[in-house]
Amino acid sequence: MHNRVILCGDLLDFTDDPAVVGEHAVRYQAQGALVIIDGLIVARGPEAEILSQYPSGFTLQRHTGQLIIPGLIDCHVHFAQTEMIAAYGEQLLTWLTEHAFPAEEKFADPAHASAIAKIFTTELLNNGTTTALVFGTVHPQSVEALFEVAEAKNMRLIAGKVMMDRNCPPALQDTAESSYHQSKALIDKWHGRGRLAYALTPRFAPTSTPEQLAACRDLMAEYPDVYMQTHVSENLQECEWVKELFPESADYVGLYEDAGLLRKRSVLAHGIHLNERELTAIHDHDTAIAHCPTSNLFIGSGLFNLKAVREHKITVGMGTDVGGGSSFSLLQTYNEAYKVQQLLGNKLSAFEGLYLSTLGGARALDLEGTIGQLEVGVEADIVVLDWAATPFLEFRLAQSHSLHDKLFALMMLGDDRSIAATYLMGERVSKDPAGTWVPPV
Ligand code: GUN
Ligand code: ZN
Repeated sequence: MHNRVILCGDLLDFTDDPAVVGEHAVRYQAQGALVIIDGLIVARGPEAEILSQYPSGFTLQRHTGQLIIPGLIDCHVHFAQTEMIAAYGEQLLTWLTEHAFPAEEKFADPAHASAIAKIFTTELLNNGTTTALVFGTVHPQSVEALFEVAEAKNMRLIAGKVMMDRNCPPALQDTAESSYHQSKALIDKWHGRGRLAYALTPRFAPTSTPEQLAACRDLMAEYPDVYMQTHVSENLQECEWVKELFPESADYVGLYEDAGLLRKRSVLAHGIHLNERELTAIHDHDTAIAHCPTSNLFIGSGLFNLKAVREHKITVGMGTDVGGGSSFSLLQTYNEAYKVQQLLGNKLSAFEGLYLSTLGGARALDLEGTIGQLEVGVEADIVVLDWAATPFLEFRLAQSHSLHDKLFALMMLGDDRSIAATYLMGERVSKDPAGTWVPPV
């Protein structure tokens, strides 16, 4: 690939966490430009300066008056639940048996897995999500299908086959041994191939025997840079069940500690009902949490106390958790996160929210310096936000005068309509300049 591109527009990204260091972590450059060569950002600055320094040999993409931000990062999502997002009526444990497991059973068929992988990745890109940490199903072929599509689209994607050897339908069960061998074969084939990486994926403690958790730990020891993703402390009934299943562990986080699953590059989804000891342990193991507010509200799990988690200096990224979550949009995910914090008496600014879906997500995935910023040396996965996606949005956003308040209203009201363009490694992949949708691979 030899793409040479200059993107012009208003640039917004973060040099650090604005919730910790304040607003000087917010980097805004009106009428800026990014120079991209072979997929990497090689320079940034005021548009006039950049255009005089790089006068020819580049494709110019003008996004005048639009906001250029880093590609959004979804730290927790289930691609096999794409087809049952917005399923009515249940909380976690019944929702799993009534809605999630039947959808996941269909992924025994590689053709089905491939068809859904195409729809899923297209939906991510249309929503401005350029990287995701993804659950497959128990079937290795589900992850094969997803990686094939992501590779064809050149997406930076992390995924893994679910490990699950009890408390689920027989059609979705593996064993400690088969999950070890299948996960290992997938790591050997896909981990570190192009922009792809593997995540060991024990679904959650209730669906894995201690033997299976030990198999996961063995693979973590063999492959020190693979990811580990699972769920923790999402729903109160689930938490009670875990106490019965693992009476010897101090608590829910404690059982994952005892199993040896917590380290950097381990990502725990939810973490709503954690005690002080668990918060301290997560921090001490350098493990991250994926906060999934649309899911926490949609399946009635509870309110995530982002402030308390931050006070423990835990790294947090945002997750849509589709199909427990009710939107693929990280703008809409911020909308719900803001409301959850309101109910807890906390404020979550638009800058803090956008940080969590960009640099914060990169930090949660141990990818700072690779994605998540408009910085020299970083991969040019980029999103362009449209202040005038609809006549009403144009009218409303014109009423806000500070950058913060305008961005806040856009994130509250916007969704995939507000994504003017998505770029992967400097290549435009969703809406083309004429506004028509590029079909899925
Ligand atoms: N806990 C175990 N499996 C799941 C799942 O598929 N979705 C959610 N939200 N929680 C889970
Ligand atoms: Zn989940």
